Amino acid sequence: MKIAVVREQAAGERRVAATPETVKKFIALGAALAVEAGAGAAASFADADYAAAGATIGDRAATLAGADIVLGVQGPDPASLAGVAPGAWVVAGLNPFGAGEHGRARVDGYAAAGLEALAMEFMPRITRAQSMDILSSQSNLAGYKSVLDAAAEYGRAFPMMMTAAGTVSAARVFVMGVGVAGLQAIATARRLGAQVSATDVRSATKEQIQSLGAKPIFVENVAGIEGEGSGGYAGEMSPEYQAAQAELVSAHIAKQDIVITTALIPGRPAPRLVSDAQLASMRPGSVVVDLAVEQGGNVEGAVAGEVVERHGVKIVGHCNVAGRLPADASALFSRNLYNFLSTFWDKEQGRPVLDAEIGDAIRLTRDGKVVNARLLS
Ligand code: NAI
Repeated sequence: MKIAVVREQAAGERRVAATPETVKKFIALGAALAVEAGAGAAASFADADYAAAGATIGDRAATLAGADIVLGVQGPDPASLAGVAPGAWVVAGLNPFGAGEHGRARVDGYAAAGLEALAMEFMPRITRAQSMDILSSQSNLAGYKSVLDAAAEYGRAFPMMMTAAGTVSAARVFVMGVGVAGLQAIATARRLGAQVSATDVRSATKEQIQSLGAKPIFVENVAGIEGEGSGGYAGEMSPEYQAAQAELVSAHIAKQDIVITTALIPGRPAPRLVSDAQLASMRPGSVVVDLAVEQGGNVEGAVAGEVVERHGVKIVGHCNVAGRLPADASALFSRNLYNFLSTFWDKEQGRPVLDAEIGDAIRLTRDGKVVNARLLS
């Protein structure tokens, strides 16, 4: 059983899908590990450390030759996978709903190449799969980093400071979307001393917001209030709800210094939460961070990969925010992959064997065809 770890090829991607720590653990399971030279360099993991952990280091062709499993952070280009074993697994974040060559077209490419593509972001949200959940591990870091990115763009301080020269008031931070990223953003902003409020469509988040010392801002008494969809994710809200939410949020946003948006609906474009008129109501120098910018954006005017200014408000649209903390993001992503493969490791066969619940959820392609229900419906 040969596991190959490829160097990421997407522009700006600094993460790596295995660390020396997980390489060592895979070897202890009985696998042989091949790491493409330089794969961990941008995340501060040196080739020498992978070699010391027991991996062979080589160029891409040598790394992939005869590989049974290819690990990536993002899905590798199918054309670059010549030489892997027939039916090999590609295990990575595969962005199956994405448009263009990095999304669905790539999935079709894996099918055509006879590979079995396993999309880690389709991992079901069940207790036993929590340690395999790349969305959680990466969102948590993104939520933290979003607050630091906001602080870096903000021309004022976060905490209240009483000094001999006068008082600096605490920044007011509003977090929209309180999933994994939003909760970490609240906690981080609180640690920096900000006055924090937050909102979500799932009423279950109200208590979580309060327990972090922040103020919940919620639409009450509107049809369709219970925003919980399947698997703990949000569903799309009724028009009445959306109108009531927009009104409530407008009054609140005008008083905020920092807004951080994290709202996502799986398989759909991100909901629009902040309009241009709302941006114009904010004080000049305010900062809005749109963590959903790559999924269509929560904020009108946000541009993926850029910091733009509208009405004196900075809109931060960094892409791949977890990847801006490449060492920690790689360490957690790698452990997610290891936890996944080791859980299903069959000692007698010397390879992982998936069960139906998780296998069917994450398997996108097999035997030359796209087989995942979410892509076929
Ligand atoms: P997500 O990344 O899909 O969305 C982020 C947040 O945006 C969610 O809280 C969602 O309710 C909210 N949102 C969507 N539309 C909105 C709107 N119009 N206005 C305001 N907010 C809106 O969600 P994430 O972070 O993946 O977590 C969703 C849930 O899944 C959480 O309850 C989390 O605790 C749970 N979860 C369960 C896991 C497990 O059991 N294995 C693992 C990870 C998360």
